[in-house]
Amino acid sequence: MDFSLTEEQLMIQQAARDFALTELLPEVIERDEAQRFPKEEVKKMGELGFLGMMVDSKYGGSSLDTISYVLVMEELSKIDASASVVVSVNNSLVCWGLEAYGTEAQKEKYLTRLATGEIIGAFCLSEPEAGSDATSQKTTAIDKGDHYILNGTKNWITNGGTAEVYLVIAQTDREKGHKGINVLIVEKGMEGFEIGPKENKLGIRGSDTHSLNFNDVKVPKENRIGEDGFGFKFAMKTLAGGRIGIAAQALGIAAGAYELAKKYSKERKSFGTEIANHQAIAFKLADMHTQIEAARHLVYKAAWDKDQGKDYDLSGAMAKLYASQVAMDTTIEAVQVHGGNGFVKEYHVERLMRDAKITQIYEGTSEIQKIVISRSILRD
Ligand code: CAA
Repeated sequence: MDFSLTEEQLMIQQAARDFALTELLPEVIERDEAQRFPKEEVKKMGELGFLGMMVDSKYGGSSLDTISYVLVMEELSKIDASASVVVSVNNSLVCWGLEAYGTEAQKEKYLTRLATGEIIGAFCLSEPEAGSDATSQKTTAIDKGDHYILNGTKNWITNGGTAEVYLVIAQTDREKGHKGINVLIVEKGMEGFEIGPKENKLGIRGSDTHSLNFNDVKVPKENRIGEDGFGFKFAMKTLAGGRIGIAAQALGIAAGAYELAKKYSKERKSFGTEIANHQAIAFKLADMHTQIEAARHLVYKAAWDKDQGKDYDLSGAMAKLYASQVAMDTTIEAVQVHGGNGFVKEYHVERLMRDAKITQIYEGTSEIQKIVISRSILRD
């Protein structure tokens, strides 16, 4: 068993760390306050190859492994989870599915531009009444021969306003249940496609979350990914990989908060000494460090499983479940270590605490991860 990273993985990790410190950190508080999307920063991440990390270089990607991807997610998320979620969605939920299941024409037309970051994508599954219960899609894609007519509303869509390409999951034949669901590639600007208002969120406020409305949108049949009825499995398989990215995001949020708390505890004095010298603080740091290291092992293991061609549904769900809990616990403790300063924006930990919460909700709540895990372990 070898726990060490390769030279290449270490280099990529360092590049992401440098980028986060020099490009993301300077205005992260302002973006959070103003709910401003990191447009320029996303463009630069595209130039660094972070938006199509695992995509084959023949489609404009970086041809890297999933371990490299989680290293980048972790480093970016230490500083700015609003920027890292763009990376996660574009890589895991959009590029991956297109590369794995798209036609050559779809890859040529869409993947090549998504992988370089020239444009970004969105994954549209959730609806006002279908979040966790993903089979209950109300959005319909009615088969009209050479095209589908798409109607419905999608909610909480990450990159909703800024994306150019949307993978939309919709019900074609309700009688067939999950086997009657399709996934269609919808382009911004298609007639009848409207972007709804931006959500005003607790955390990841720099990310661009919208509802979307589809009113008789005509989508050519060549924009369907996979066979008729493949949409639900497409969504499940795509989300299984997406959960590894979000687990890495949660890990990064936790690690970022821990690093700030550790630094602060060695600077701030009380009762005549640095607060790190009080066991009340030192023991908190010991717990944080241990939990983060455990989360890291789960995240890297899930990424390794994917790279080895092994099943990663279980390991990805466990990584997300645990890392997101660690993100929540660690950020709350990091605020506590900072005392009154922890409540003040310029110390960053209150933002990390707010950002942590979404990792327990999107790409499947913690309860959904427990469904996936329990079904998997009880199967045999
Ligand atoms: N890979 C391949 N196929 C899978 C699969 C997987 N990981 N998981 C399920 N399937 C298949 C099953 O084999 C089954 O197919 P068959 O009938 O042919 O055997 C079919 O899909 C239906 O599976 P289930 O019966 O298990 O489905 P279910 O209705 O019980 O739901 C669930 C299972 C795990 C609860 C699922 O609905 C789920 O994951 N829900 C959460 C959805 C979610 O994560 N939403 C988040 C929105 S996206 C987002 O947040 C993006 C963002 O903006 C950041």
